[in-house]
Amino acid sequence: MRLGLALLLLGAACQRTAPPLERWSDAWLAQEAERYLDDPAARRAALEASLTNHANIYSTQRLESYGLGTRGWDALPEWNPRSRRVDAAAVADLARGAWPELPAERVWDGKRPTTQAGWVALGERVFFQYPLRAEVAFEHVMIGAPDKPADVRSATARGIDLTPAGEVLGAVTFNDVDGTQRVGITCAVCHASVDGAATVAGAARRRFDLGALRLAYYRDSGESVDPELARRMATWGPGRADVTEDDDEDPVAIPDLWSLREQPYLTQAGTIRHVGPLALALRQETQLLHANALRVRPPRELAWALAMYIYSLAPPPSTRASDPELVARGRMLFDRRCTECHTNAAGGGDLVPAAAVGTNPALAHGKARGTGFYRVPVLTRVSGAAPYFHDGTVPTLAALFDPARSVPGHAFGTDLPPADRAALVGYLESL
Ligand code: HEC
Ligand code: HEC
Repeated sequence: MRLGLALLLLGAACQRTAPPLERWSDAWLAQEAERYLDDPAARRAALEASLTNHANIYSTQRLESYGLGTRGWDALPEWNPRSRRVDAAAVADLARGAWPELPAERVWDGKRPTTQAGWVALGERVFFQYPLRAEVAFEHVMIGAPDKPADVRSATARGIDLTPAGEVLGAVTFNDVDGTQRVGITCAVCHASVDGAATVAGAARRRFDLGALRLAYYRDSGESVDPELARRMATWGPGRADVTEDDDEDPVAIPDLWSLREQPYLTQAGTIRHVGPLALALRQETQLLHANALRVRPPRELAWALAMYIYSLAPPPSTRASDPELVARGRMLFDRRCTECHTNAAGGGDLVPAAAVGTNPALAHGKARGTGFYRVPVLTRVSGAAPYFHDGTVPTLAALFDPARSVPGHAFGTDLPPADRAALVGYLESL
C-alpha cells in the first residue's frame, strides 16, 4: 500500500516535469537546435556565457554586435551562394583562363533538416563547399599570371592537397556577394587532408603553408604588401596561421577536430567556454560572417549543421601496433603525473594559467584572443598531432619529454628516467 502510494506520487511528479533529456542525445540536440535557430535571447545568453574573457578583441566584437535581434549582425542579409568544389574539370577550366560552370542549385536547398543525420550531412556539405571568402593565393595557383602559367601540382609542396581524382581539396569556385565569380577557400583547406586514397575530414592539414602561398602571389603578381605583414607571413611555416585580429606575433597550429564534445574550452587559449553546442554553432556563424568582411551572414541552419558535423568527426582507426606492457606502464605514470590537468576521458581538461604551463605566453596574453590561460588539449590520436603545443614548436612526443629540449614549458614528465619516458610515449601513442 505504501509502495503503491509512493509510485503514484512519483508518477505524478514525472508528469509535472519531464525528465531532462540526456546530453548529446538526438532529442536534446534537436531541442538545442531550436533554441539556437529560433530564440535570439538564447543565442545572446550562450554568447555571454561562452566568452572566457569579455575584454579581449574577439569578445568585445561579438558582445557589441551578436544576438541583438533586429540590430547588429542579426540584421545582415543571409548568404547562400552557388558554389562548386574545384574538381579536375574545374582545375582544367581555370588553367586555361575560363570560369567553370557553377551548379544551378545553391549550397543549401533552404529546407531545415529534421533528423540528426540530416544535419550532419548538411554540415559536411558546408564544410567542403561553403566559401569562407575569396582567396587570391588560390586564384593565383589555379589561374596563374600572364608570365606564370597555373601550376596546381607544384603547389602541393605548400600543402595544396589534390585528391586521387584531381580535386583541389577545400577550394571552391563561387559567385561572390558582389556577383563576380571567384576562387575561395572552405574549412576543408585547413581541417581536412588527403592521405593516400582517402580524404580525412577533421585532420589538421599540417603541410598547408598559407603564408608561403600568399607571398608567392605577391611576388608573382607584383601587388604590394605591407613589408611587416610579409615578414610575419614568412615566419608562420606549414600548419600554422596567425588567425588573430591584432598585431601580436602569435601564430597558432591548426588543431585536429577530434573529440570536440570532450573539450571544455575551444581554441588553444581557451577563448570560448564550450558551454554546449550553441557555443560552437555561434563560433562558426561569427567566423563565417567575419571571414566575409561583415557583408553577409550564413543562414544559421548552416552554422548549426557545421557544428553537428564537427561533433561527428572521428579519426580513422589506428594501424599502430603497441606493446601492451609498455602501454600499461605508461598509463600508470600518466594517471600519477598528468591527470591533475588532463582530467577527462579524452585527456582534455580545464584552463591552466599560462605561467603554470610555461609555454610561449604570447597567445595566452594576446589582445585578440587572450585569456591568460591555455586550455588542456584532448589527447585523442595525439601521436598524429605533431608538432606539439599551441604554436607547434615541439617536433615529436619523445622531444616533448626530453629534459634537454630547447623549447620552454610543460616540463611535466621530463624528470622521469628514460624507460619511464618511453612508457609515457608508448601510452600516448596508443590513444
Ligand atoms: C586558414 C586555416 C583555417 C581555416 C580555413 C579554418 N580554420 Fe578552424 N582553425 C584554424 C586554426 C589555426 C585554429 C586554432 C585557433 C586557436 O586555437 O586560436 C582553428 C580552430 C578551429 C576550431 C577550434 C578547435 C579546438 O580544438 O578548440 C574549430 C571548431 C574550427 N577551427 C573549425 C573550423 C571550421 C568549421 C571552419 C570553416 C568554417 C574553419 N575552422 C576554417 C585554422 C583554420
Ligand atoms: C599543470 C597542468 C598540466 C600537467 C600536470 C600536464 N599537462 Fe600536458 N598540457 C597542459 C597544457 C595547458 C597543454 C597545452 C600547452 C600549450 O599548448 O602551450 C598541454 C599539452 C600537452 C601535450 C601536447 C598536446 C598537443 O596536441 O600539442 C601533451 C602530449 C601532453 N600535454 C601530455 C602530458 C603528459 C604526458 C603529462 C604528464 C607527464 C602532462 N601533459 C602533464 C597541461 C598539463
